[in-house]
Amino acid sequence: MKNDVYEWIEAPAGDFAVIGSPIHHSLSPRMHQAAFDALGLKASYHAIHVPVGQVSEALDHLSILGYRGVNVTVPHKEAAFEWARSHSDIAADLRVCNTLELGSGKGHNTDVIGIQTCLSHLGVSQGKVLVLGAGGSAKAAVYAMGRSGLEVGLWNRTMSRAEELASSLGESVYLLPEPYLGGFDLVINTTSVSLSSESLPLDWSQAKPGLVVFDLAYAEGLTPLLEDAVSHGHRMLDGRRMLMEQGAAAFEIWWGQPAPRDAMIEAIS
Ligand code: ATR
Repeated sequence: MKNDVYEWIEAPAGDFAVIGSPIHHSLSPRMHQAAFDALGLKASYHAIHVPVGQVSEALDHLSILGYRGVNVTVPHKEAAFEWARSHSDIAADLRVCNTLELGSGKGHNTDVIGIQTCLSHLGVSQGKVLVLGAGGSAKAAVYAMGRSGLEVGLWNRTMSRAEELASSLGESVYLLPEPYLGGFDLVINTTSVSLSSESLPLDWSQAKPGLVVFDLAYAEGLTPLLEDAVSHGHRMLDGRRMLMEQGAAAFEIWWGQPAPRDAMIEAIS
């Protein structure tokens, strides 16, 4: 589904929004509107396009228009951190924000809590995790795993980015030259491969029988990675649950009440 997308300079007055570039395929407007409707909350939620380099001006403009909260998606999460006047502890550690309170100017990172909640949903509380990728989502994943006491292996196509990520977090992470599945209990894909026609060089014959595969991306059906996981008999979870959990955590920051998770997941399923 495509959203009605506004350029930030033409945004109408409103209450909440998601900003990104591109933004037309975001499921956040549908999911948050369903949450407001489920609880009878009178509020609007818009998809707003903000080009790279204009995040600060756009957020100032939305504040003046009366927006109370903003979700931030790719590629603006670092710029949102820079804009925020104060930060939650997790956002300060990561220097990345995906949720903003415009009134106070406080920045949060609900991706970490989203990933942690998905781990409990999967019943993964110990063992070895392989994180694939070294972008902003990988940073949140490695941080979440470290905090959950899991042993983290990290692989990225460009090894130097994986090295930078590991040293920026100071987490004890071991770097893999190849995405070797052997010995891992959980694999988390944070790369954008699931959004393209390319695939990761995984050898499924190395995987343990109980391996769980979690793809932060989602597609119309299963992503190619999750199709492979299922065909090899592994349990899996796609990015919709993660989208819902990080959105529910943002909702709870803005509204100070429990998010209607069932209505939110139903809206994007
Ligand atoms: P995000 O902030 O959403 O994590 P990103 O910073 O653009 O996004 O990172 C994208 C990730 O997908 C990177 O780890 C990237 O690997 P490189 O650092 O080597 O570019 C990974 N990626 C994208 N296309 C890939 C491909 N075809 N094969 C393997 N990894 C890929």
